[in-house]
Amino acid sequence: MKKFLVIGNPIEHSLSPKLHNFWIKTNNLSAIYEKKKLNETELGSLIEEVKKKNIHGINVTIPFKKAVIPFLDHLSVESENTQSVNTIYLDNNKIVGHNTDIEGFELSIQDLRLDMNNKKVLILGAGGVAPSIIFALNRMKVSEITLSNRTKSKADKLKDQFKNINVVEWGEIPNFDIIINATSLGLKNDDKINLDEFKIGKNKLFYDVIYKPSETNFLKVGKKLGNRIENGKSMFIYQASAAFNIWHGIKPKINKEVIEILD
Ligand code: ATR
Repeated sequence: MKKFLVIGNPIEHSLSPKLHNFWIKTNNLSAIYEKKKLNETELGSLIEEVKKKNIHGINVTIPFKKAVIPFLDHLSVESENTQSVNTIYLDNNKIVGHNTDIEGFELSIQDLRLDMNNKKVLILGAGGVAPSIIFALNRMKVSEITLSNRTKSKADKLKDQFKNINVVEWGEIPNFDIIINATSLGLKNDDKINLDEFKIGKNKLFYDVIYKPSETNFLKVGKKLGNRIENGKSMFIYQASAAFNIWHGIKPKINKEVIEILD
């Protein structure tokens, strides 16, 4: 039986095992997918298990998406450019790191049937997921990306990596067509992002990377102002399906049952 893991710290909340084990079952595969809480000092020895074929694939979540890189033999272009790895596998005896968050974000945007050309995008947050979103937005050829993070130095660091982005102060809301919450604000029901509601207007897209709760206060504000809203559920499902395809060579079905697993 093949063994797969998601590693992170904390990890209790992760819904990846539910999703992957559902697809493993519905595709009649002999495999199991578990979650494991780790300390950074344990990363190297765990990743070695992939080379020994004791573990057949690893998903990586916060806070290790960058920290795993020194233990890998090869990075995909996506991981190299974002310095972020969420999927690990063995290819020709080399441990490879890839980033399926990018594809997850892209496919979730494609579902919205939005023309991304000439769109101005404002990203809130410069944490783990931000480089993946910036990389995807650049690939979609949006016209402008602005980044705003509470700790400005982290946004400035990302500008070193992605020279075309603009950085503004936290609390400053420039004109945008799409606003993306890539902070962890909203995970708790009483978390609020202070948006100056009156300057925003309608007919924009409010996108939250968070999918639990399904409607964060950020999305509630967007909706109230007459904007389209989207949470991070389909991004999460698409990043998982891309990892599943890498490991098992099967594109898993995304249907109502799958979507309900995450409720
Ligand atoms: P990490 O910061 O370790 O990469 P993350 O969960 O990937 O962790 O990112 C959390 C993001 O949410 C960061 O952009 C963080 O802002 P800081 O860089 O200033 O920490 C943001 N965030 C978390 N709590 C916040 C709060 N109360 N107000 C504003 N931004 C917040």
